[in-house]
Amino acid sequence: MIAKYVYGAPFPTEAVAGEAAAASGSLPIGEVSTEDGFRFTCRLEKEDIVYGLGEANRGLNKRGFRYVSSCTDDRMHTETIQAMYAAHNFLIVAGRESVGLFFDYPARMVFDVGYTRMDTLAVTCQRADLDLYVITGESPYDIVRQFRRLIGPSYIPPKFAFGFGQSRWGYKTRADFCGVVDGYRKNRLPLDMLYLDIDYMDHYKDFTVNGEEFPDFPAFVAEMKDRGIYLVPIIDAGVKVEKGYDIYDEGVEKRYFCQRADGSDFVAAVWPGDTHFPDVLNPEARAWFGDQYRILTDAGIEAFWNDMNEPSIFYTPELTAQTRAQMEKAFRDGSYTPNMPARKKPEARGDYELFYHRSIAGTVRHDQVHNLYGFNMTRAAGEAFERIDPDRRFLMFSRSSYIGMHRYGGVWTGDNCSWWSHILLNLKMMASLNMCGFLYAGADLGGFGEDTTRDLLLRWLALGVFTPLMRNHSALGTREQECYQFEDLEDFRHVLGVRYRLLPYLYSEYMKAALGGDMLFKPLAFVYPGDKMAAQTEDQMMFGGEIMLAPVYTQNASGRYVYLPEEMLFVKFLPGGVIHQETLAPGHHYVEIALNEVPMFIRRGRCVPLAEPAETVGAVDASRLTTLGYEGASYVLYEDDGVHKNYTALEDCRTLKHPVR
Ligand code: GLC
Repeated sequence: MIAKYVYGAPFPTEAVAGEAAAASGSLPIGEVSTEDGFRFTCRLEKEDIVYGLGEANRGLNKRGFRYVSSCTDDRMHTETIQAMYAAHNFLIVAGRESVGLFFDYPARMVFDVGYTRMDTLAVTCQRADLDLYVITGESPYDIVRQFRRLIGPSYIPPKFAFGFGQSRWGYKTRADFCGVVDGYRKNRLPLDMLYLDIDYMDHYKDFTVNGEEFPDFPAFVAEMKDRGIYLVPIIDAGVKVEKGYDIYDEGVEKRYFCQRADGSDFVAAVWPGDTHFPDVLNPEARAWFGDQYRILTDAGIEAFWNDMNEPSIFYTPELTAQTRAQMEKAFRDGSYTPNMPARKKPEARGDYELFYHRSIAGTVRHDQVHNLYGFNMTRAAGEAFERIDPDRRFLMFSRSSYIGMHRYGGVWTGDNCSWWSHILLNLKMMASLNMCGFLYAGADLGGFGEDTTRDLLLRWLALGVFTPLMRNHSALGTREQECYQFEDLEDFRHVLGVRYRLLPYLYSEYMKAALGGDMLFKPLAFVYPGDKMAAQTEDQMMFGGEIMLAPVYTQNASGRYVYLPEEMLFVKFLPGGVIHQETLAPGHHYVEIALNEVPMFIRRGRCVPLAEPAETVGAVDASRLTTLGYEGASYVLYEDDGVHKNYTALEDCRTLKHPVR
């Protein structure tokens, strides 16, 4: 059951798609005080687990730390970072009884989950103007399903988006891009997507391309498509200030950019230097900004990633003259990095108090609705795609997000590092993101910042085989990490190949989760309630209805310990097409997993379909599937054309019975 408690005059965030009965009186859990801002508190019993917060740091169980919902461009994801790119204000307190809490509030919010006092959950924000949804249910899993119904269906990408993609900040010339595709194709390494980071643009101007490198961009897009490659350009939030640049001119003329209190357009320096932010909280401006995507869809583009949309601000003209001079110098001489020591975050500098939106609820200062910016930038694109080609699916994912954006696009988890701990963080975030409706998600495989190593990349890819977004991405100046940069690249060919062999299964499970409001990645406890060990396991995750994942995330390990809540079939994909299968009893095991092997566990009585190896999603042959798993088990395979929105009804899906050989 969902009860909605309304405090003060909430801003209409549009996070929720359904209706919930308004409640009054006392909450079924905890207490609220609205005397000095908003403060929710509740007692945590020793054994309670707190799930949720989507894209947030630390554990699957969020207890013992303080998390801040204030979308932030911070690229150092250390163990103590509190604010990341997203604001997903949904929690579940799971104990003898379980309760879900969604704090629908668009500005900074603090979640003290047993940090100040280990036995207390405290959620606070400045203004007592918000909707609090309280969900009671049979189990945490049941609460997630109710919550997902409330917030509406998850975004569904085209099928090619389940292929592997290569990205790097620094690809600039036509030769760079062609070289990457050659590197993959010549070495028979699977690849479906090539990402265009900021350097494809003309001086970082959104919706332009560098005309010298790409004199005929539509022809380049078509040429790549002929090679089985979809190009995925980046779109940044800030529009470059430059007279004569039509998008800038039009935005200024129509007052579609965020403005200061005095009515002047707000200036923020990002990659292009001075920019203005499109006022995506104003429906008219949002439609206008969304329509710009047509420039690229007309050129044949079907996929995008939206970035810097917290929004990130390097500096503003309002900064003190001295700091600004330093920042501008660094920017000019190329020594600028977003985490320069002298730099405070835009929120701390007060930048977000300097500009306004013309929203559906009237004029509102940015800091009061800060966490909605990335959501609405992505929504601008999503709504535009509906106008551009209503039957077609486009690939879209964003860095910043708020719950509600899951209806328009997916997310990637931003600038992680080539650290072993970030493999585990990736796994844990997947389940938490799924709770909040974000199914199409993934991390920068191999790590974005710092130098990767061959073994780190291989281990991370072995997890990436299962994440809907499977992309290798790295930062300017770091070691090159395309799969063909390393020795013995047949190991990479093999690991990527497993993704394509599993593709019919991964896609089928994604679609079932998206259409059924379910999760793809689940904590073990959601599937094995009552199992005390399962409740504590954070480095293994259930995937879909059939499998359990247990990636290796430590260097120089030749395997790992796993906990099996029930008997399972341990499957390892070995190079050369060999598949190791071994039935393991419930309990603890040490399993050997070599660097070039992909492990997974099939649940007792289940089976999964398997395709022949392929180098692109389009080449996966669904008419020649075999199965892997328990004798006599059957699997309902979801299939559709992967392009349009006429989804198949579950009763029309075919059932495969193991063994299909
Ligand atoms: C941001 C993005 C990163 C991108 C870079 C340059 O740091 O998070 O993915 O490569 O900007 O566009």
